[in-house]
Parts: sequence; C-alpha cells; structure tokens
Amino acid sequence: MAKQLITDHDSIVLLVDSFYAKARKDELIGPIFNEVIGDDWDKHLPTMYRFWGDILLNTHEYEGNPMVVHKQLNMRIPLEPAHFERWKKLFVETVWELFEGDKAELAAQRAVSIATVMQLKIAGYQ
Ligand code: HEM
Ligand code: HEM
Repeated sequence: MAKQLITDHDSIVLLVDSFYAKARKDELIGPIFNEVIGDDWDKHLPTMYRFWGDILLNTHEYEGNPMVVHKQLNMRIPLEPAHFERWKKLFVETVWELFEGDKAELAAQRAVSIATVMQLKIAGYQ
C-alpha cells in the first residue's frame, strides 16, 4: 500500500486504529489495555482521535490530562520501562508502515518524547 501523508481526521483515525489494533494483540502491553479498557473501546478510540488530532493537526479538541490518567493507571498496574519501550516501538512502527512526510516525522517524535517524559514522571510514583 502506498504511504500517505497525515492530512486530516481520516489520517488520524487510521493511525490510532492501527496502533491500537497492534497494541491490543501485543503480549506485553495488550493485557493492560484489554484489562483497563475492556468493552469501552468505543469511548477510548475517539478520545485518542482528539488527542492525536490536537497534536498533529492543532484541532484543540482534546480535553484531558494524560499524565494524571497514567499516574492512576500506574497505581493499579505498574508501568515498567519495558512497557514504555514496547509502546514506543509499536507506535513508531505503525507510523512508518502507513505514513510518510513531516507530520509522520512529528507523530513519531512527539510519541517518543511524550512517552519518555511520562515514564520519567511515573518513575517517581513507584
Ligand atoms: C502525558 C502528558 C504529556 C506529556 C508528558 C507531554 C510532553 C511533551 C514533550 C516532552 C514535548 C516536547 C516534544 C519535542 O520537542 O519533541 C511536548 C510538546 C508538545 N505537546 Fe505535550 N505532553 C503531554 C500532553 C500533551 C497534550 C495533552 C497536548 C495537547 C492536547 C500536548 C501538546 C503538545 C504540543 C502542541 C507540543 C509542541 C510544542 C512546541 O514545540 O511548540 N501535549 N509535550
Ligand atoms: C506503557 C505505556 C502505556 C500504556 C500501557 C498505556 C495505557 C493506557 C490505558 C490503559 C489508558 C486508558 C486509561 C483509562 O481510561 O483509565 C490510556 C489512556 C490514554 N493514553 Fe496511554 N498508555 C501508555 C502510554 C501512553 C503514551 C506514551 C501516550 C501519549 C503519547 C498515551 C496517551 C494516552 C491518552 C491521551 C489517553 C487518554 C487519557 C484521557 O482519558 O483523556 N499513553 N493509556
């Protein structure tokens, strides 16, 4: 399949759906998503469209505090360095399997920087 540019809401949906399809099947991080999100994927995925739409297309549509959400998650299921490594690998792989161009570069970079900072902040809570 030809690689695409990240241009609009449809690109965001493709990126997010493809990442979570992989993440849910992953033997290391899949169980965390499936345990916490359970039957609520219809709610979680649109939240993630808003988050990535905001970051990549400046849509100003995401309202939330991912840091607080992951600190709470970490108290329930400890998020280990290996989980972050896998998350980053799957996300970056997904970006480059589907997309090319500056926004793809931005998606991969931002995912890695946010994950790195999230992991550092969370380490203070374990
Ligand atoms: C867990 C929560 C978050 C963490 C740890 C985090 C961390 C970071 C980091 C480390 C950067 C620098 C990226 C780089 O230079 O490569 C960044 C940039 C940015 N983040 Fe976040 N972020 C978080 C949540 C959000 C949210 C919720 C939004 C918007 C809805 C957002 C929007 C942005 C934008 C627009 C930039 C680029 C700023 C610029 O370069 O002008 N971030 N973030
Ligand atoms: C170890 C890696 C990670 C795991 C296992 C993980 C898992 C999860 C889970 C289970 C939820 C749902 C939480 C709930 O509804 O209570 C969630 C929400 C979310 N995650 Fe992650 N996550 C990880 C890393 C990241 C990173 C690096 C980012 C950003 C680049 C991110 C962005 C988000 C956002 C935006 C939400 C929605 C927060 C809200 O409700 O507004 N996650 N994550």
